[in-house]
Amino acid sequence: MPGSHSDVLILGGGPGGYACALRAAQLGLSVTIVEAEKLGGTCLHRGCVPAKAILHTAEIVENVRAGAAFGVLSQFSGVDVAALHEYKNSVIDRLYTGLTGLVGGHGIEVVSGHGRLVDAHTIEVAGTHLTGTAVVLATGSRARSIPGIPLGSRIITSDEALNLDFVPGTAVVLGGGVIGIEFASAWASMGAQVTVVEALPHILATEDPWCSEQLTRAFRRRGITILTAAELAEAKPTDTGVTVDLADGRSIAADLLLVAVGRAPRTDGIGLEDNGIELDRGFVVTDPHQRTSVDGVYAVGDIVPGPQLAHRGFQHGIVAAETIAGLTPTPTADHLVPRVTYSHPEVASVGLTEAAAHERYGAATTVTYDLAGNAKSQILKTTGAIKVVRAGGPDQDGPVVGVHMVGDRVGELIGEAQLTVGWEALASDVAPFLHAHPSQHEALGEAMLALAGKPLHAHW
Ligand code: NAI
Repeated sequence: MPGSHSDVLILGGGPGGYACALRAAQLGLSVTIVEAEKLGGTCLHRGCVPAKAILHTAEIVENVRAGAAFGVLSQFSGVDVAALHEYKNSVIDRLYTGLTGLVGGHGIEVVSGHGRLVDAHTIEVAGTHLTGTAVVLATGSRARSIPGIPLGSRIITSDEALNLDFVPGTAVVLGGGVIGIEFASAWASMGAQVTVVEALPHILATEDPWCSEQLTRAFRRRGITILTAAELAEAKPTDTGVTVDLADGRSIAADLLLVAVGRAPRTDGIGLEDNGIELDRGFVVTDPHQRTSVDGVYAVGDIVPGPQLAHRGFQHGIVAAETIAGLTPTPTADHLVPRVTYSHPEVASVGLTEAAAHERYGAATTVTYDLAGNAKSQILKTTGAIKVVRAGGPDQDGPVVGVHMVGDRVGELIGEAQLTVGWEALASDVAPFLHAHPSQHEALGEAMLALAGKPLHAHW
């Protein structure tokens, strides 16, 4: 067992925990991470990275199917699932090797095992007590299940979906959030008949409804069935698959049911309540610098209420490390966390929805630029649009407070959108910057030109 006292003792080595460790080590602090499974956490092993690898395979399937439209004689004859997993796992393995090297290179100790908070400065792992001047909770989240719906080989969560050894012929996806939409997209690309069942009136309910409508239309064109405001009554495995009954009497038979109804914080059974750490429905309450209600204990990532995204976890980790080191870092602003759903087409957004901007500023102005006018999008044969939200009425020159995009590859545009919104830029500040031609970035530039009152490639 390594030295039992560190300046910073971190429970959980996912994006939040390891980012905190790296930044704390850079600042000269001694660091220990306690990790029950593998460094990298859900993101690297059961989340972002494997899911995006599967979605990349799905994109290649789409390209192969569409080959003739681009002058390529190609024929899709199926997905080699074993090869898909080999590719996906090789990506994970390379990143895991890099991460362990990075953590080791910073002199960070990693202790394997399931840890539990004993007091504000002590974590117990398999009978050994480790202490830290500061303790950082970074235990992440797990897929939620639904009481009365038994998980098994036919009713699965994203954990199992990432390692399926077949492509379903038919699938029901319960939950039209990010996970449900990404799997629906990937499976549909690979040939499955997919039905998405969402309880709320819109899929991707936290996005601007404009994005949901665009995506719903695109998915319907792809043959994906979307049932919104739909209530699940029962789901039962059968000999050959699963039967999903809805409250309105409809019944759907499928090979698989994916339950994608959100992720719960992993905060139970690790001594948090016993030590007086304030929780809200299982999430750890923190101040903007990631301090919990108990002095010396911090929390980062998915266990903190707000968007459960790896990059928010990274930022929380950095903020916690800098706070522990006595600095005053800029807190993470949840509404400025960029969001990308890697479906076909993609949905990417940052900042306020139109409705939220109206609410906050009393008035909002929007411009929508259709990718039909963007050369690169036409070359790629993608459709979609970009909506930019500005604070204030049409005659006011308010800052850009939201960008919402739908279309293949628009996730790659989120960086510029984020800088514009994060810096509270005016459209007239951004409009003079050139964008390489032909690129999809030009669509953002065109939207800014239009918002600044001088549209170029647009009818007005
Ligand atoms: P989510 O909270 O995004 O969506 C769950 C959806 O399920 C909601 O729309 C909810 O209304 C619906 N729902 C809940 N109970 C239901 C029921 N009984 N019947 C029908 N619908 C029901 O959760 P999701 O998609 O599981 O993702 C979990 C987290 O992981 C999210 O916070 C997400 O941001 C993150 N994630 C992010 C990704 C990305 O950034 N690309 C990819 C995958 C996950």
